[in-house]
Amino acid sequence: MIRSMKKMTYCLAFAGFVFFQMKALSQDSGTIHFNAETKVFRLDGGGVTYAFGVNDGDELQPVYWGHAVSLQDKLAAAKRLPEAASFDSTANTTPKEFAGWGGGIYTEPALKVTFPDGNRDLVLHYVSHKIDGNTLTVTVKDVERAVVVEMQYTIDPATGIVGRSAVIENKTTSPIMIEAAAAATWNLPQGTDYSLRYLTGRWAGEWHLQKQALLPGEVVLQSKRGSTGHQNNPWFAIERGEHPDEESGDVWFGALAWSGSWRISVEQDQLQQIRVTGGFNPFDFGYKLLPGKELKTPVFYGGYSHAGMGEASRILHRFELAQILPQSPTPKPRPVIYNSWEATEFRVDMPGQSALADKAASIGAERFIMDDGWFGQRKDDHAGLGDWYVNKEKFPNGLKPLIDHVRSLGMDFGLWVEPEMVNPDSDLYRKHPDWVLNFPGRPRTEQRNQMVLNLARKDVRDYVYGFLDDILAHNQIAFLKWDYNRNWSEPGWPTVAPDEQKQVYVEYTRNLYSILADLRKKYPNVEIESCSGGGGRVDLGILGHTDEVWPSDNTDPFDRLSIQDGFSYAYTPGVMMAWVTDSPSWVNNRTTTLTYRFLSSMQGGLGVGANLTKWSDADFATAKELIAAYKGIRETVQHGSLYRLVSPRDGSEQSVTESVSIDRKQAALFAFLHSSTMGYPYPRVFLKGLDANTTYKVTPIAGALRKDSPASATGAYWMSHGVDLELRGDLQAAAFRFDAQ
Ligand code: GLA
Repeated sequence: MIRSMKKMTYCLAFAGFVFFQMKALSQDSGTIHFNAETKVFRLDGGGVTYAFGVNDGDELQPVYWGHAVSLQDKLAAAKRLPEAASFDSTANTTPKEFAGWGGGIYTEPALKVTFPDGNRDLVLHYVSHKIDGNTLTVTVKDVERAVVVEMQYTIDPATGIVGRSAVIENKTTSPIMIEAAAAATWNLPQGTDYSLRYLTGRWAGEWHLQKQALLPGEVVLQSKRGSTGHQNNPWFAIERGEHPDEESGDVWFGALAWSGSWRISVEQDQLQQIRVTGGFNPFDFGYKLLPGKELKTPVFYGGYSHAGMGEASRILHRFELAQILPQSPTPKPRPVIYNSWEATEFRVDMPGQSALADKAASIGAERFIMDDGWFGQRKDDHAGLGDWYVNKEKFPNGLKPLIDHVRSLGMDFGLWVEPEMVNPDSDLYRKHPDWVLNFPGRPRTEQRNQMVLNLARKDVRDYVYGFLDDILAHNQIAFLKWDYNRNWSEPGWPTVAPDEQKQVYVEYTRNLYSILADLRKKYPNVEIESCSGGGGRVDLGILGHTDEVWPSDNTDPFDRLSIQDGFSYAYTPGVMMAWVTDSPSWVNNRTTTLTYRFLSSMQGGLGVGANLTKWSDADFATAKELIAAYKGIRETVQHGSLYRLVSPRDGSEQSVTESVSIDRKQAALFAFLHSSTMGYPYPRVFLKGLDANTTYKVTPIAGALRKDSPASATGAYWMSHGVDLELRGDLQAAAFRFDAQ
C-alpha cells in the first residue's frame, strides 16, 4: 500500500514535471515572450511583431510594431526620451502604451481620474505581468495610490491582429471618478509621411472613405451620440510612404469593439510621433468607481499590413470571420433573403405578406423577413414602438399562420424589431414614462416620433429581454432584424445618484450586449442583424453578437457600389447585406436594369426587397437565374479574399471587385460601368490572388467577355494578360466566375 502510494506520488510528481516542462516549452515557442534582461515584451503572429518594454522610468513604452522581425533579432530596451525643451518634458517626448493623466503630460491620456481629495494626478508604473498562451496581462499602478490597471494584450496567430483592453481597478478605500478611459494607445515611429484613412457618412450616405495627410495636431474620430453612429465609424488606417496603394506599402489599422459613444484620437505630436488613442468617449463621461470595483474598457484591435490597404482589409475580414462573429470560426453563409420593407412599408398583413412569400420562394429566397409594422398600433412611425404584441387587425390569428406558410415554402422566417425604442403614443410609454433617457423637467426631444428607452436600467433591460424571449419562445423565428432608428438626446438617468448618471454611456451598451448574449445562448439557432437606420451601428462590438449588418438604407445600386467599397475597408462582405429593390430607386430616381441591381447586391449577402407583385415574368426568370448563380459563388464572395480592382470612388466611370475563395479554386468577378464616353472600350481588368499555375475556366454570370477571350487559361494569364470585357453604354454590369479545372 505504502509502496503504491509512493509510486503514485512519484507518478504525479513526474506528470507535474512534464506538464511544467511542456508549459515552459509552449510559452517559449508561443507567440508572446518577455526578455527579462531588456524587459521587452514581444508578441509575434501572422507575420507581425508588436513589442513594448518597461523603460528606465518603470513606464510601459512602445518598442516596435510592424512586419515580423526574427526572434533572433534583439529589440533594444525601452528608454525614456530626453527633455526636448523646458516645454517638452520627458513625460511628453516619451511615447507610452497607456498613459495616466499626470506628471505633466499634454498628449491624450488613456486614463484620467479625480480622487475625492481633489487630486487628479495619475502616473502609472509597471508592477508585474503574466503570460497565458496568446494573452499577456501587464499590471501597472499609480506611483502613490492604489489605482491599478491590468492591461491585456492578445495576438491572433493567423492575422497578427493585437487586441488591447484595460481593466481599471480601484483598490483605494474611497470612490474615484474616471473621466476618461481608453482601451489603448497605438504608437507609430516618428515620421512625416503618414496619411490617415477613415470612414464618414450620414443616413443613406454611409461609408465614405476619407484620406488626409497626418500633420502636426490631432484628428478626432468620434461619436457622442450614445451609439456608434453613421457619421464616423470606429476604424482607422494609417499608411506610410509617398505612394502607398491597394497592394503595396505599410498600413497600420485599428477598430474599436464598442457600440456606445466612442472616440479615437490620432495625434502627430511636436516630435512627429504618431499616437492613436481610443476607447470610451471622454465627452460627458464620468464613471464613479467604488472601492474594490473595476471598469473594463472595450477592446481596441490593431493590425498591420506589409502589402497595402487591400491586404489590410483582407486581414481584418479574415479576423472578423474567424474571431469576432458569434459563429466564428466558421460562420454560416448568409442565406438569400426577402425583406418586405420597401415593398409594403408599414402596411403588412397576412394576405399581403403571404403573397410576397410565395413569390420570394419562387425565385429561390431562403429566408422571408417581415419588417416594421406588425405590432402594437403601428400604422406609421407615430405609434406602437414599445408594444410588442401582434396587431390583431393585421394578423387576426397571430404570426403563426404566416410563419407556417413561409416555412411550408421552404424558407425560414425573420422578424423586424426595434427593442430599445418607444413612441410616446404607446401603452408602454403611458405606463412607464420614466423609462426613457431624460432629464426631469426638461423637454424630451423626439426623433422619428420616438424616444430611447434607458437600457441601463435593470427593469428596462428585463422588459426588453422578456418580450424578445417571449416572441422567440412562442414562434418559429430564425432571425431578428434588430433596428435602432435614432440617437440619444437628454441622456439623463434620474433614478441613480447624480454622480453616477453618466455611467449610462457604459451600462446601456453593456446591457445591450448582455441581452443579445442571453438571447443567443437560449436560442442558439436564431441569427440577428444589426441595423440602425442603415449602417448606424456597425462595429466590432456589435459584430460579436450579431451575424450580419445592414450597411445603409440607400439601396440605389449605383450608390451602393461606393457604399459597399467604403464598408469593405473595415468590414467583411460576409456580414454586408445588400438588397435588390425597385427601379427607379427612391433615393435618386435612377433607373437601372434588374441585372445591374442584382450584380451590385451579389457582392455581399444577397437579399431582395422589391415589390414582387409588380414584377413581370421576365423579371422572375432573371431573378431566379441570378439567385441560382449567386448560390454557386456565395461562399467565395462572403468568406473569400476581396480584391478591390477598380475603385468606384472619385467619380470613377468603372468599378470592379474580385473575390477569391480561400482554397483559390474559384473567383467571382463583378464589373460595372457608369457611362461609356468617346467610344473608349472598357479598360482591361487584371485579376489578382489566383494560383498562377492553375487553369481556370471562365463562365459568364451576366454579360460577356470580348469575343477573342479564351474560355480557360492559367491564373498567370488572367492576372498578367488580363481580361477584356464587353461593357458599353450607361449603367451596365457584368459578372463572371472562374473555376479551377
Ligand atoms: C430603418 C431600417 C429600414 C426599415 C425601417 C423600418 O430605417 O433601416 O430598413 O427597417 O427602419 O421602420
